[in-house]
Amino acid sequence: MRIIQRAADLRVNPPRPLGLVPTMGYLHEGHLELIRRAAAENQEVVVSIFVNPLQFGPGEDYQSYPRDLERDARLAEEAGADWIFHPSPEEMYPPGFATTVHVSGPLTERWEGERRPGHFDGVATVVSKLFNIVRPDRAYFGEKDYQQLQVVKRFNADLNLGVEIVPVPIVREPDGLARSSRNVYLDAETRPKATVLYRALLAVRQAAQSGLSPEEALAAGRAVFDETPEFAADYLAVVHPQTLQPLEQWTAGARAIAAGRFPAVRLIDNMEVMGS
Ligand code: PAJ
Repeated sequence: MRIIQRAADLRVNPPRPLGLVPTMGYLHEGHLELIRRAAAENQEVVVSIFVNPLQFGPGEDYQSYPRDLERDARLAEEAGADWIFHPSPEEMYPPGFATTVHVSGPLTERWEGERRPGHFDGVATVVSKLFNIVRPDRAYFGEKDYQQLQVVKRFNADLNLGVEIVPVPIVREPDGLARSSRNVYLDAETRPKATVLYRALLAVRQAAQSGLSPEEALAAGRAVFDETPEFAADYLAVVHPQTLQPLEQWTAGARAIAAGRFPAVRLIDNMEVMGS
């Protein structure tokens, strides 16, 4: 496996198909599942590790975001990576850099986009750059960041980038908590309570499957939130799986999405609640 910092050091004619797994590092089982999938389906795999300053808002955790390149390199190699692309912020955003990829409209205005202004511009800009630098045939994204996945599909189609976007199901801890680099911020007291999102989503799904309406199912989910007063919910919604617009009636593949904060960490999660 090779670790490179400069876009120019990636091979011009790599063996194909070439898979790309974009990450911000501090790899966990969720990331490793993406890498294993990519390794199984492609001749070569590039894993990018770049904590992208553009997608963090003021007061968010850009500076303190956990980083450990040595450990990441070992884990990525074991999972099947052939290349790690680990650029500096200056390599990605040299002086004079002035372009933003902006996905407009309802897909980015709500949910994470509403709570984190500019976040999806940062994601769309960096992922477009990674697609152009690496020129992969396929790129792998976790359903954990469900809105991000839909945003990536949108600009990839709109800009004719031609990358096959492969969604990978959420990898969870044994108790249901979705794996996340930010779970390291959870202290021993908060950690067991952090399953609140998962439990709320399960309640929504159970209500959906027992014939209740979306509104009634959301009430069942909110009742779970109410049992954990330390958790400040940002949203819980039942949405269309592609447009992410709220649903008043069930549709195939309907998704429940949720986010909220404990004092030290913000968590997001989602679940398909109606078979597709
Ligand atoms: P990061 O949070 O490091 O996540 C990298 C990829 O791993 C994303 O596609 C994310 O959805 C996926 N992932 C994270 N946790 C997962 C889990 N528990 N199960 C399945 N997949 C999981 O998302 C980003 O980085 C950045 O926004 C990025 C796309 C790299 C652009 O900077």
